[in-house]
Amino acid sequence: MTESPATGYALITGASSGIGSAFAEALAESGRDLVLVARSKQALVSRATELSTRYGVHAVPYALDLTQPGAVRELATMLSDDGFTIDFLVNNAGFGTQGRFDRIDPERDHDQVLLNVVTVVDLCHALVPGMVARGQGTVVNVGSMGGFQPAPYLAVYGATKAFILSFSQALAGEIEDTGVRVLALCPGPVMTSFFDVLGSTHAAVGQQLTAEQVVAAGLRGLKRGRRVVVPGWQNKITANAARLLPRRTMVAIAKRSVGLDIWVPPAN
Ligand SMILES: NC(=O)c1ccc[n+]([C@@H]2O[C@H](COP(=O)([O-])OP(=O)(O)OC[C@H]3O[C@@H](n4cnc5c(N)ncnc54)[C@H](OP(=O)(O)O)[C@@H]3O)[C@@H](O)[C@H]2O)c1
Repeated sequence: MTESPATGYALITGASSGIGSAFAEALAESGRDLVLVARSKQALVSRATELSTRYGVHAVPYALDLTQPGAVRELATMLSDDGFTIDFLVNNAGFGTQGRFDRIDPERDHDQVLLNVVTVVDLCHALVPGMVARGQGTVVNVGSMGGFQPAPYLAVYGATKAFILSFSQALAGEIEDTGVRVLALCPGPVMTSFFDVLGSTHAAVGQQLTAEQVVAAGLRGLKRGRRVVVPGWQNKITANAARLLPRRTMVAIAKRSVGLDIWVPPAN
């Protein structure tokens, strides 16, 4: 899948694995230079070296825990000090917590909101004004099908992704005349380390795709001017059904389909 002619760098958060790593591959293939961000330094360095060698692009690994105070400011300072112009931002780093709310570690939920929501807003604040000033740019915010309805046993995760959907659509509308595109990419289940971090595959409900298929659908959607992409036709139907049914009904269906009422969530 090729992208429009590359100019500035693409910055991808969560580029060390899964969907972020697949974005790095697709954008490098289209000739984009990359800034790759995640915590795992070694994985980032290997990925950057691999993509530079394969596609002849400049790929810069930047190991950073985005939940740490001041992390986005540190990243923005590095970008400006080193003269990187970012005109393609992929806000992808994220994780989920699962189980009954009263049994989830509060600090994990706190970090989840920091990474899935606060970091996305902070990075958009850091990079979108420059894109608007230059009259071009692309922002891909990775949401989830889980953002289309309340998600029992994934209550905070689903809410973070509902935020991504709402925020991205509003931002896309606000800046539609500036040359900057904003896409909410909302995948269903993708077998990445996401489910290792989550702790089980109970929540892998829906049509499973690969990270590469999800990224290809996102890049196709951008070319077609879409603001929301749900990869996979079965997932599209489910996401649309979630908009039509009463919320209470959707909660009951989602609760049953996740199947956690027969699963004993870990006690802390
Ligand atoms: N897999 C799915 O079924 C699915 C479905 C819908 C949406 N999504 C969304 O897709 C996005 C990517 O997930 P994935 O499936 O590709 O899972 P993944 O393979 O676990 O990737 C998560 C990425 O986020 C990075 N990350 C985690 N915590 C971080 C932190 N504190 N600071 C910086 N980077 C951090 C991880 O790298 P390090 O560990 O090296 O930091 C990793 O690169 C997430 O936003 C997820 O919510 C996934």
